[in-house]
Order: sequence, then structure tokens, then C-alpha cells
Amino acid sequence: MRSPVLRRHVILVGLPGAGKSTVGRLLAAALGADVRDIDLEVERRAGMRVAEIFESYGEAGFRALERREADRAIAGAPAVVIPGGGWAAQPGNLAAVRGRALTVYLHASAEKAAGRVASQGGRPLLDDAEPVGRMRSLLAERSGYYEQCDVRVETEGKSPEELALEIAELALEAGVG
Ligand code: S3P
Repeated sequence: MRSPVLRRHVILVGLPGAGKSTVGRLLAAALGADVRDIDLEVERRAGMRVAEIFESYGEAGFRALERREADRAIAGAPAVVIPGGGWAAQPGNLAAVRGRALTVYLHASAEKAAGRVASQGGRPLLDDAEPVGRMRSLLAERSGYYEQCDVRVETEGKSPEELALEIAELALEAGVG
């Protein structure tokens, strides 16, 4: 663990495939901050992959574990926190971090996000014959939550490096970094 260099957390929000993990790592490197990847922390603690947790305990079981790990991360030293795309869409989660974190919505179209996850697998909610349609419904269900973030960053046409730089600048302007 590095000594805390951030005044508040930076939490990345957005659809699966929006680039949260890649951008989050680059952002943390740019800010000299630690990264808390909530899916990885859930998997480590449960000793199971996310897909296996969904299979054995259902989505509700996964959400409970996700919330516990995210709460742990948020109670810890300020870091770049990367929850899975569903975390921000659970009632109360975004409201609970208001004032303690800069929340950043990485906006991607359903088509782009579906294209990015297509080759990766391991996302039970997108295990569907119609991934673009499924992603469109996820976006429709969630955008009301996602849009409550402090800032919205458009990902279209930008590289992960450009996005990390843009968010690092926003974090500095917001007095977080
Ligand atoms: C989920 C997104 C995944 C993972 C789980 C559920 C979601 O993370 O947490 O499969 O509900 O959107 P990514 O957003 O990193 O793919």
C-alpha cells in the first residue's frame, strides 16, 4: 500500500465494457494512488469467480458480497475504486458515497460496450444470445443511476490513456488529487 495521496476516493461507474478496469489502473498510476478492484476483491475473499458466485448464490448473493467489499474499500484510505457495473445501480450505493468520493460515469454506448465484452466472457448478466439488446436494457435500467455521478466522461473515440488523463485532470480540479 502506498501512503494516501488522494483526499477522497475516485469511483469509476459505467456499463461492463466501458473500460473501468483499464482506465482505473492507468488513472491510479497517473495519480500515484492505490486501486481497489471490487470484483477481484470479492473473488479473492470468496475463493470463487464472479460467474461461479452468480451460479451458486444468484445475483442477490453476489450483490451482498459486492456491497460488503465496496463498503470495506470506501472505509479505507482514499483510492481509485472500481466496482462492477451493477454496484452504482443498487439503490443507496451512490447516495452513501456522496461527499466522500468523486464519482465518475464512464459513458459508453450499448453497442460499444457489448463489442468490448464480446471477446472477454465471464459476465453472467451478459450471457445472452442478444448481447447488444441485453446491454441496451442494462443501460436503460441503469442510466438514471449512472447519471447521478459527479461527473460524466464520454469514452467514444478516446483511448484508455486519454481517458485516464482527462479524469486525473478532473480529479485535480475537484481537489481530490
Ligand atoms: C456486473 C458487472 C461485472 C461484475 C458482474 C456484474 C453488472 O463487472 O461485477 O458480472 O451487473 O454490470 P464489470 O462492470 O467490470 O464487467
